[in-house]
Amino acid sequence: MTRPVIAVIPKLSGRFAPLLAERYELHLARSGPAVARALITSGGEGADAALIGSLPHLEIIAVDGVGYDAVDLDAAAARGIRVTHTPDVLTDDVADLAIGLMIAAYRRIVVADGYVREGRWALDGAMPLARRVSGRRLGIVGLGRIGAAIARRAEPMMASIAYTARHARVGAPYAFVPDIVALAERSDVLIVAVPASVETAKLIDRHVLDALGNDGVLVNVARGSVIDEAALTDALVEGRLGAAGLDVFADEPHVPLPLLGLANVVLQPHCGSATYETRQAMAQLVVDNLDAHFAGRALPTPVL
Ligand code: 8YV
Repeated sequence: MTRPVIAVIPKLSGRFAPLLAERYELHLARSGPAVARALITSGGEGADAALIGSLPHLEIIAVDGVGYDAVDLDAAAARGIRVTHTPDVLTDDVADLAIGLMIAAYRRIVVADGYVREGRWALDGAMPLARRVSGRRLGIVGLGRIGAAIARRAEPMMASIAYTARHARVGAPYAFVPDIVALAERSDVLIVAVPASVETAKLIDRHVLDALGNDGVLVNVARGSVIDEAALTDALVEGRLGAAGLDVFADEPHVPLPLLGLANVVLQPHCGSATYETRQAMAQLVVDNLDAHFAGRALPTPVL
């Protein structure tokens, strides 16, 4: 029996080759022959219309990530191509990192680490004081799986938790604030955990940042496109925003240069889900979706 051909984007081929080699034939997307019936891609890279168009036999796109904003869903739907993603298995890791970034930004953990390594503790004495995290007012942008997991972690720590979303979440024990500027005004720290979409593009703009204010902290574990990055950079450089913890950027892997020089910004190279345990679980879910598709079973985690 011939094995179904799967195209995989280069950066994922090392991880998926051992999992798929027995039952499937693996090719690199964009450079392999156009016979693939499935495509494995990441949340960040997705699949644009050109890539989908280059694979005339494509039946399914399996995203190794929960966010599928980089997949051209219209192009996929027009050809009846199925799309799957990896929800739930990465929720804890992304929520952990969001809380970590919040604490690191307030307590200046990265700066303090440098202070010790550079010998300044011995030379200059105690470091300038940081800011307290506990007892602050948290605003969460998007109370989906990840936003809710962030809220659960923050509950014992924060004075209050409020959120904005398209609709109030039934049963959520937090204040629903439909207007994002109003949410920023009543929050000390804003954590962004909303999926990227046309509606959420540059949702965090200058008005939101100014409402958060020069003591405010912004954390983003969603997508760079949800924030007006130029406005964020200006606010940080001009001291109109207190601090930021950023895992995601508009044009990854490029980070706005002025951010690199700011001590009040904690930067991560998009690694919310980047642990061995979670990446393994994500890969397994990708494989489960592909196996289900080729066996004619219901897809475990479909988008389309
Ligand atoms: C990774 C992500 O970028 O889940 C997402 O949406 O952004 C991440 O988990 C990536 O997809 C890993 O391949």
